[in-house]
Amino acid sequence: MEMNQNPPSIDPRKVPGKKLNNGAVIPAIGLGTFGSDNYDNETIAEAVRTAVRMGYRHIDCASVYGNEREIGRAIGDLIAEGTVKREELWITSKVWNDRHGDVAGSCRQTLDDLGLEYLDLYLVHWPFPNHHAKGVTVDSRDPHAVPYRHERYMETWRAMEKLADEGLVRAIGTSNMTRPKMELLLRDCRIRPAVNEMELHPHFQQPELFDYLVSEGIQPIGFSPLGSPNRPERDKTPQDTSPMEDPVILEIARRHGVHPAVVCLKWGVRRGEVVIPFSVKPEKIFSNLSGVTGDSLSADEMEAIRKTDKNCRLVKGQVFTWSGATWEDLWDEDGTIKQ
Ligand SMILES: NC(=O)c1ccc[n+]([C@@H]2O[C@H](COP(=O)([O-])OP(=O)(O)OC[C@H]3O[C@@H](n4cnc5c(N)ncnc54)[C@H](OP(=O)(O)O)[C@@H]3O)[C@@H](O)[C@H]2O)c1
Repeated sequence: MEMNQNPPSIDPRKVPGKKLNNGAVIPAIGLGTFGSDNYDNETIAEAVRTAVRMGYRHIDCASVYGNEREIGRAIGDLIAEGTVKREELWITSKVWNDRHGDVAGSCRQTLDDLGLEYLDLYLVHWPFPNHHAKGVTVDSRDPHAVPYRHERYMETWRAMEKLADEGLVRAIGTSNMTRPKMELLLRDCRIRPAVNEMELHPHFQQPELFDYLVSEGIQPIGFSPLGSPNRPERDKTPQDTSPMEDPVILEIARRHGVHPAVVCLKWGVRRGEVVIPFSVKPEKIFSNLSGVTGDSLSADEMEAIRKTDKNCRLVKGQVFTWSGATWEDLWDEDGTIKQ
């Protein structure tokens, strides 16, 4: 599709929303802003301008993406030009692993960078304080990396709750949590998480965790909803599969006359997820939005895609493992938290 000065747009009121446990309604599609080290900050900020002019109202940010200042300028421009009002936007950000002990300071920095007085949603990006430098290889390890400690996580969560009390963030949530960790959090929290942001696509459907979250009133937000084809090399292994190349998805895409990416998004939204696909390309940004506002998949198509699940985790988190641990230890797959 040729894009000119006036890109096509979709009425944001046509975008489905999901009501969270704090009463707020989050748009079911948001623009991801992690460029996987492939795009510079200005290019991603320009994608935000394009997306909001096209009708997106939800932007998924994080301090670790290193581009909140540029995105803040884009948001400021969009408000100044009259495209959108602050209250019509849904802005998510996340506290990075190296700031678990200074949630308030990290949030203030994000608000300052984004030029906002409040966030709609603030997440704990990972349940571990382990971090890595930008652009590291898969073999890189944080020498101070440690396993999950619930007491320490609860200190971070108490600081998240305080931000919600103060009105600096309207909702708080988690990311990359497992069921055993979530059970402990739900036992000990004062304010329940509104969402858990997690990897979700046809080849990694996480049905048990998904159903558990929904049963607890926690909204799943699906990251890498297209299978993150351009993710950093550190997150790729030879065993990885690609939902956008799955024959079942290709056949449904052919039937609907859309790109397989759009099928992945239609599937996610009909399943009850919020999806946050990334792109900086106007034609892809638009087709993703029009996909979730257009016709939906049939029950048979949903069932056919359900059967494509390969339990293939793509964002494994190798760089967050501690001494002696493997990436599987991050995910508590046998139901116990690894120490
Ligand atoms: N909470 C977390 O720990 C976490 C982890 C990972 C990601 N996230 C969030 O989730 C967002 C999305 O995840 P992701 O970036 O890993 O992967 P993704 O959205 O699954 O895939 C993005 C890639 O798909 C391509 N694409 C997008 N729309 C397309 C279309 N209509 N047709 C064909 N290709 C299309 C893009 O290509 P181009 O490059 O050509 O535009 C882009 O490189 C991130 O940006 C970030 O905001 C959060």
